[in-house]
Amino acid sequence: MPVPAIEMLGITKIFPGVVANNRVNFTVEQAEIHALLGENGAGKSTLMSILIGLYEPDGGIIRVRGQELRIRNPNDATALRIGMVHQHFKLIPNFTVTENIVLGLEPRSPLGNLDLQSAEERVQGLSHAYGLAVDPRSKIEDITVGMQQRVEILKILYRDADILIFDEPTAVLTPQEIDELLAIFRRLKAEGKTIVFITHKLKEIKAAADRCTVLRRGKFIATVKVADLGERELAEMMVGRAVNFKIEKAPPRPGEVVLKIEDLVVTGPQGAAAVNGLSLDVRAGEVVGVAGVDGNGQSELASAIYGLLPAKSGRILFKGRDITRTSIRERIKMGIAYVPDDRQRYGLVLDFFLYENLMLKAYHKPPFAQNLINQFDIRAEKGPLIRTGDLSGGNQQKAIIARELSLVPELLIVSQPTRGLDVGAIEYIHARILAERDKGRAVLLISFELDEILGLCDRVAALSKGQIVGILPAAEADERRVGAMMGGIQEADQEAVHA
Ligand SMILES: Nc1ncnc2c1ncn2[C@@H]1O[C@H](COP(=O)(O)OP(=O)(O)OP(=O)(O)O)[C@@H](O)[C@H]1O
Ligand SMILES: [Mg+2]
Repeated sequence: MPVPAIEMLGITKIFPGVVANNRVNFTVEQAEIHALLGENGAGKSTLMSILIGLYEPDGGIIRVRGQELRIRNPNDATALRIGMVHQHFKLIPNFTVTENIVLGLEPRSPLGNLDLQSAEERVQGLSHAYGLAVDPRSKIEDITVGMQQRVEILKILYRDADILIFDEPTAVLTPQEIDELLAIFRRLKAEGKTIVFITHKLKEIKAAADRCTVLRRGKFIATVKVADLGERELAEMMVGRAVNFKIEKAPPRPGEVVLKIEDLVVTGPQGAAAVNGLSLDVRAGEVVGVAGVDGNGQSELASAIYGLLPAKSGRILFKGRDITRTSIRERIKMGIAYVPDDRQRYGLVLDFFLYENLMLKAYHKPPFAQNLINQFDIRAEKGPLIRTGDLSGGNQQKAIIARELSLVPELLIVSQPTRGLDVGAIEYIHARILAERDKGRAVLLISFELDEILGLCDRVAALSKGQIVGILPAAEADERRVGAMMGGIQEADQEAVHA
């Protein structure tokens, strides 16, 4: 029996007021793909941060390839050939792919000049060997998120990592990019690399992982062979109760038009029209979904409705009133709430206490932070006085949703509401969104998750290149039709294709 790649035994990590890891055991064999599963706040990121030397454990031992040692900082981890791809990438936007990869390890010619040529060749070689297609000379700011992730992977391979850790790598990827990443995992494994990956998506675990370790509230629950269990069993092991996968919903009772968008044009960061002549209505008591591949104008659309970006032309009407040039503050007062996709940039002030973030927009109303924490099951052992940035990723997301729903909006714009949430939390957030709709609120849902769109929406609008290319009532929307529309094929053309 070869020695395991990693053995973490009895690992404990205590933050003030929280036992993030409570005598956790985590053993990863060489050349396996090992998933780490657990609810939001279960202690997954903490455990991996210990392994790469970002945190020192309060108890327990670590063996790497059979040898017991201490990993005091990330350099120790690199020397042990352990590398991590973080959820929020750490790349420099105006540097090229190669420059980012060699950063800190710049190759020099014999005369001491920077030798990017040989670095580029090595990057090319790695990129070929593992099927990580990138252009070594592109600037980071010009490439897609999926490609940036490949750069992060190349960066640790360049440092000879053979134990690779991924913290929620699929949360920011499109479905196609996810398939590609899982294929890359298999290739890395075939080359003898060991992979640990954190994900909330059970489908991905079933598709790619050999074994899975489950944590619950800081404690080790089990390590299982993935082939032996179904998605449902994995989910139950994780949350400790039965989980309802099917979204139950009553028929919609649509009322008046609450949001009316007419011929809207919004300029994107590159100066071109990101939203390009878009028209759409959302009625009271219905959920309208915007399905589309990332980068087709989703964030610009949401920002414009909320007032974060100006409309270049066209109109936005709220209950018949033109709000195209109305201030954000006024829009909030009128009853528009917004859950943005980039929670750290736009949703929260990470250095504020949790209660401050929860009350950010409702400071004139009675205090209710603890109430929201209970209702939305925000896992904050220290309560409202925790620094928001110290919440786990998923619990930050729950905090934004709690705050926005507490405003009792008439129009709710939600963008990627369940990104990074565990299955139990997703179940709850979906139920809350439908409850808003049943109370007669208008909901605009923007999501890359087709399952989420199909499960929640009463009408599905497909977005492509800044335009709505088709709208289907829920009963007629399925993966194939919506997928084809998202690709920019209009219904009529589709018929033509099939004719
Ligand atoms: N630097 C910190 N200071 C204080 N508490 C922290 C810190 N980092 C994490 N915690 C707490 O430790 C617990 C575990 O957090 P961790 O980030 O490991 O969870 P997670 O399993 O990765 O969750 P998620 O799926 O939401 O990312 C949480 O209660 C969190 O609030
Ligand atoms: Mg985490």
